[in-house]
Amino acid sequence: MSLARIAIFISGSGSNAEKIIEHFQNHESIKVALLLSNNAGAYGLQRAARYNIATLVFNKVQFRESDEIISVLRAAGITHIVLAGFLWLIPQNLIEAFPNRIINIHPALLPKFGGKGMYGMRVHEAVKQAGESETGITIHEVNARYDDGEILSQQKCRVEKSDSPEQIAAKVQQLEHQYYPQVIEKWITSS
Ligand code: GRF
Repeated sequence: MSLARIAIFISGSGSNAEKIIEHFQNHESIKVALLLSNNAGAYGLQRAARYNIATLVFNKVQFRESDEIISVLRAAGITHIVLAGFLWLIPQNLIEAFPNRIINIHPALLPKFGGKGMYGMRVHEAVKQAGESETGITIHEVNARYDDGEILSQQKCRVEKSDSPEQIAAKVQQLEHQYYPQVIEKWITSS
């Protein structure tokens, strides 16, 4: 396999991004080359800098109304895009530039608890509210609709009646950190 170069997109904490960076640190054929964020205050930017990963902050006009980000990705030799807590919808031009090469993680068992506005604690609050006995993570390819591409992997955990949304979030995050890096590796090496 030729060298794969990953760009990670984040909007916030970036704890998944850090696990991914760690996972691929010494990998022979896959490298995290760039971390991008729409949010200059995203803590994930600091995490990336600690690993000497190049970072870039961009605005909505650059992202949605031009090919600027695509040019940046091409110049950096990016082959695969990983979304890790990135809150903006991916525009059509980016999807067409990287067909079947964009992956996302959602903190619930899609198609339940997905779609516009379903992110962060809102997801876990909705799971609690619905009285679900299980929840988990969904890793999927990305298309032009929120949380809608082909599902590559789902992992489940139990929800106890006594669990608070915060406790549910902690269980789900543990699954994310455990599985997202390895599913990304399998997705890249088998593509
Ligand atoms: C995760 O729950 C992920 O599933 C969702 O956004 C969250 C990002 O968390 N898409 P972090 O920024 O990686 O800590």
